[in-house]
Amino acid sequence: MDKGSWKHSLLLAVVLASTYADASLSWHMDDFIQAVKQVEDGVPGSGPVAVLKRLRHAAGLNDALVRYFLRAADSGGAEMDVSLLSFITKAVHHRVTEENREEGVVLTPDGTTVALTPLLLGLEAGFLSKTKDRVRGLLKLTFTKDLESHPLSRHPLSRHLGPDGCWDNVSSPQVFTLLDQPGVLTTAQINGGMDGFVLGTEIAFPSTSGRPLKLSGILTEYYCRSLEVGGMDVAPRLISRRRRDNFRKLGVPSITAQQVVKSAEKQRRVMGLKKMDSKTKKQLMTLVKEGVKEFVQEYLECPPIIPRCMWGAKPYKGTPTNLTLPLPFLYIHHTSTPRDPCLTLQQCSEDMRAMQRFHQDDRGWDDIGYRCREGGVSG
Ligand SMILES: *[C@@H]1O[C@H](CO)[C@@H](O)[C@H](O)[C@H]1NC(C)=O
Ligand SMILES: *[C@@H]1O[C@H](CO)[C@@H](O)[C@H](O)[C@H]1NC(C)=O
Repeated sequence: MDKGSWKHSLLLAVVLASTYADASLSWHMDDFIQAVKQVEDGVPGSGPVAVLKRLRHAAGLNDALVRYFLRAADSGGAEMDVSLLSFITKAVHHRVTEENREEGVVLTPDGTTVALTPLLLGLEAGFLSKTKDRVRGLLKLTFTKDLESHPLSRHPLSRHLGPDGCWDNVSSPQVFTLLDQPGVLTTAQINGGMDGFVLGTEIAFPSTSGRPLKLSGILTEYYCRSLEVGGMDVAPRLISRRRRDNFRKLGVPSITAQQVVKSAEKQRRVMGLKKMDSKTKKQLMTLVKEGVKEFVQEYLECPPIIPRCMWGAKPYKGTPTNLTLPLPFLYIHHTSTPRDPCLTLQQCSEDMRAMQRFHQDDRGWDDIGYRCREGGVSG
């Protein structure tokens, strides 16, 4: 084979490898865990920190702030397969496109979507932690890291956090589209931040013995644990379905706007940026105060809500009329069927569709009768 055609075959192999990865892998947590396992196979015998550093190196997560707390990422071990590298880079690199598509997020088995960057950074901070009382940089790495790259003036929005979004296909998710314009942090970033914070803290203070030493094992236990009969009542404590409870119990809601602004100032110093002027600081304080309030109300005091698009709802028949506030009454109804609580997203979705079908087709209503329904998996 002459040199030129050899190069062409190599190029073809690379192209084939990338198309293969695109065709076979989706943005589901299960697929991300498979990729993590492949990375672990490339660095046999090494612990989660080495694997996290490799992931971080592959994804280019290595800015001054990250290096300050976690040191430089490295590429130790064998060269990474091209398709694996491209999958990881895309999986971890967070951005929202012009078309309101959110990237760098994966769908988890409980039906919620998480951004991977804050999850991975929180985990690494937890593993590196040497002090017993606090994990260095945890709040910055999981929540406030990107706060400042947001032009503050661009957010005179009525809400600063969220929104959630919809996947194109729940069994093989490829595209995640936000339900509205993105706020300072999307719901997926908040979910990933909470998970990174909870896992980072729990790894620094392991209260359960026998935690698995592989990153893929930790992610599997946290995200992919199937519920047994008995549902949440008998489920382990450290699982993604208990995200909000676990986060609340760590006492983080007592975080004040002052702490967040201080954290942003420290961040600027670490990044070698000049100090904020007093006007910017004041703007940031206002923004953060509102954000913290919203966060507590929507993400801590309320259960997660799986939007209609995720359970495959049929559209409303006709044109809905808006409710006017204050509502004159509210019904809380206990459904008689299905009798057993659903334990998987798939089962809960089927139950929801069956109820909608019954209400629309048999009862002749415009839509499912409930505004929201509490299930075995989520509200
Ligand atoms: C989702 O993707 C799977 C696998 O590609 C496919 O078999 C299925 O039909 C898709 N579902 C929908 C609702 O498009
Ligand atoms: C209901 O409210 C939404 C959002 O405020 C608005 O866009 C829509 O036009 C309203 N619909 C009707 C029928 O008034």
